[in-house]
Amino acid sequence: MTDIAITLTVNGVVRQVEVPGRRLLSDCLRHDLGLTGTHVGCEHGVCGCCTVLLDGEPVRSCLTFAVTVDGHDITTVEGLAAPDGAMSPVQRAFAECHGLQCGFCTPGFLCTVTALLRDNPSPTGEEVLEGISGNLCRCTGYQNIVKSVHRAAEIMAEET
Ligand code: FES
Ligand code: FES
Repeated sequence: MTDIAITLTVNGVVRQVEVPGRRLLSDCLRHDLGLTGTHVGCEHGVCGCCTVLLDGEPVRSCLTFAVTVDGHDITTVEGLAAPDGAMSPVQRAFAECHGLQCGFCTPGFLCTVTALLRDNPSPTGEEVLEGISGNLCRCTGYQNIVKSVHRAAEIMAEET
């Protein structure tokens, strides 16, 4: 089958790639564009590991065909840090509060939480739990992830 040419803006950089119509966005990012920060766990929409931001909104890249996002803006975990490499408030909070162990789920959490706090800069405990409910972590027991989200909100408030 003929590949299809698509253009994505990934982490602010315009990328052109030719993909089969059935190429998943997760595979396109990892294999075609070399952005292996996006992890793939379940590959069927359950774990949230593959979450990236599509025009700023979290989506599961394992459930998204790359051709359907032609012309759109994608942010992966590689794009969360500042241009000078400084970690974002969410990344710093996860590091500070030990919000990760093996780190496999972390790119998905970081993308999800980045969008969560952008939309709701001071979430309640319940809103945090609801906000991260689509992301699974097999290591941490979640307490430190929850702490990290609250700490990220604090850092963002301090810095604005
Ligand atoms: S790999 Fe996409 S939701 Fe699990
Ligand atoms: S830190 Fe290991 S799966 Fe979350």
